[in-house]
Amino acid sequence: MQWGDEGKGKVVDILAEKSDLVVRFGGGANAGHTVIIGDQKFALHIMPSGAVRPSAACVISNGVVLDPEILIGEIEGLAGRDISMDGRLYISENAHVVLDYHKMEDQLRENALGKNKIGTTIRGIGPCYADKVGRSYAVRMADFRNMDALAERIRKIVDYKNKVFGAVYNAEPIDADALIEKCKVYREKLAGFVCNTTRLLHEAMEGGKNILFEGAQGALLDLDHGTIPFVTSSNCSALGMGPGCGVPNQKVDRFIGLVKAYTTRVGAGPFPTEQDNEVGDIIREKGHEYGTTTGRPRRCGWFDAVAAKYAASVGGINEIAMMHLDTLAGMKELKICKAYKLNGEETDFFPSDADELSSVECLYDTLDGWDEDLSGVTRYDDLPENTKNYVRRVEEIVKVPVTIVGVGPKRSQAIFRNV
Ligand code: IMP
Repeated sequence: MQWGDEGKGKVVDILAEKSDLVVRFGGGANAGHTVIIGDQKFALHIMPSGAVRPSAACVISNGVVLDPEILIGEIEGLAGRDISMDGRLYISENAHVVLDYHKMEDQLRENALGKNKIGTTIRGIGPCYADKVGRSYAVRMADFRNMDALAERIRKIVDYKNKVFGAVYNAEPIDADALIEKCKVYREKLAGFVCNTTRLLHEAMEGGKNILFEGAQGALLDLDHGTIPFVTSSNCSALGMGPGCGVPNQKVDRFIGLVKAYTTRVGAGPFPTEQDNEVGDIIREKGHEYGTTTGRPRRCGWFDAVAAKYAASVGGINEIAMMHLDTLAGMKELKICKAYKLNGEETDFFPSDADELSSVECLYDTLDGWDEDLSGVTRYDDLPENTKNYVRRVEEIVKVPVTIVGVGPKRSQAIFRNV
């Protein structure tokens, strides 16, 4: 429900315990979902976070842009920790494939933009989705079934990209033969997992299976509903679920939106509640707010309830999981942004135009903080009164109940609440 990094990996891992299937439906290796089990830390970029629950099957559906090199690394990394994906990973034949020239284009374009860059993760996400929409130069997992045809296709694409990259960026040409050799390895390692995942999901639903759909990035980074150009290239709010996996939203019982108890953002773009000061520094250090994918320090600020309310409305969110509540302990007072002032007028609607969002002034509620360490609390009622007040105020403004709160990074540090 924010700009990503809300703690999806942990929540998906917990919910996956009761799921037969976990589905990643959008984005690519720009995501970084961290799961901590005991003293082991898993940082997954493409693989659904349910992978670390051997009882759950994992689906990478058509909406994902799949970087084969990273996925193979994750499959092998998990195998090295005795977690096998054999017979429990299903990759859509319609998932589009991120190849070297996509990552190269991402880097070249960001470099050329200089101070106007988006601040992408350089994982080739935008260029791959652009090829998907453009169609003529798209490569899907299904294309790996016929290596001769794929090799011919790659030669044509590389020829085109080399001409464009050379002319626009003066870039060194890409070697098509080397890329084709890499594709042979991708085929060898991944072909056995590729299938029609839409069919698989519909059959699973008919069979009464419990399915968890795992979003990536954040609603405010949504291509259509975030502040373009400072967004990612997919519909990463809950709206992206249907197109991203072929299951309509009305089939889904619960839409759980994730927030952190404060707000963070990586990359460029407007961030009204940003605290580029001591408050932001405290949150960053206590919350370990450094990117899982790029290691970049995250920008930190107060909870923006206007943005969260927008994300809830657009995504049809009916429950909130609020993570990192423990991080706020020790702060004398806490602020929640309840409205913006835009062009002299008060509004509680989030403007999705980047210039408008840059110009808003935040109107805050100030609440008393708490000193108690929350990391050992297991029952919602046992949280300090000021913590519960804080959660209550967020619920009042966003108008969605908070049903899960996170008080630490471990599986056990999530409190479930019946409301
Ligand atoms: P891209 O998705 O790599 O093109 O990056 C576009 C913007 O989205 C940049 O500001 C990234 O920092 C941001 N972004 C992409 N994926 C994530 C994510 O999983 N978490 C947080 N920010 C992300």
